[in-house]
Amino acid sequence: MRNQTFKIGDQVLLIDSRGKKYLIRLKDKKGSFHFHRGEIRFLDILGKKEGDIVYTSKGEKVLLFLPTLWEYILKMQRGAQIIYPKDIGQILMLADIFPGAKVLEAGTGSGALTLALLRGVGKKGKVVSFEKRKEFLEIAKKNIERFKKIKKEEWGKLVLKNKDLKEGVGERDFDRAFLDLPEPWELLEQIKKALKPGGILICYLPTVLQIFNLTETIEKKYSKDFYIMGIYEVLQRGWQKAGVSLRPKDRMVGHTGFIIALRRLKS
Ligand SMILES: C[S@@+](CC[C@H](N)C(=O)[O-])C[C@H]1O[C@@H](n2cnc3c(N)ncnc32)[C@H](O)[C@@H]1O
Repeated sequence: MRNQTFKIGDQVLLIDSRGKKYLIRLKDKKGSFHFHRGEIRFLDILGKKEGDIVYTSKGEKVLLFLPTLWEYILKMQRGAQIIYPKDIGQILMLADIFPGAKVLEAGTGSGALTLALLRGVGKKGKVVSFEKRKEFLEIAKKNIERFKKIKKEEWGKLVLKNKDLKEGVGERDFDRAFLDLPEPWELLEQIKKALKPGGILICYLPTVLQIFNLTETIEKKYSKDFYIMGIYEVLQRGWQKAGVSLRPKDRMVGHTGFIIALRRLKS
């Protein structure tokens, strides 16, 4: 945790008394943040530290933190639909992401998974990420750079390519590959060439029909190249405490996507 005081240019996560979160940027000394619980002057935040408290103009208590990657991903700008943090957590373990790994990704989208991968592979690792749509790549770039400024950690090397993965990867010996795009079965030939034997491929798909197409293609055409480790979905239900009432929250994210984990065989 950065034990410094908040300064101009910082992004700050505000948490109000109801647990609602807001991500703001301290643009200048004169600025302020207005919401239904009142106004917070940037001047009242500048000089404070993570974990400190400020009070709004209506006397409401607000907590100050730097955002975690989970919180940042949910608040950052979206071009394409992101992978939800609850799924990213599972994906990182299923893929057995490790420091120094060489990773291939498509598409970059808004950069949510890319950020988690860059952190997971550490400063000796590398992430090569393909995105065919330039406008999405620009958003991802901005999202990634902003978070790197918030958390000055040991990030992996990032190579962003504004290219369709169908045109070829151009590199081999990847330890891990991640496909979050509608038709991963069309890219298995590329992944087969790029991924090391024993390497892991993770595909993320929102519908059952897509999983069926992918697994059918593997069984019929690529059974000597890929082993299906498992198909998963992650259900996460938050709980809340209000006095003596301790119970699940009545709202939850019902469905995001399915995760398929595959292992490259030595074919
Ligand atoms: C759902 S988004 C990815 C979101 C990303 N995983 C994230 O967490 O922010 C899918 C992206 O894949 C891109 N895409 C689809 N097919 C592609 C391909 N063959 N090569 C490169 N990018 C592709 C789309 O343009 C889109 O931006």
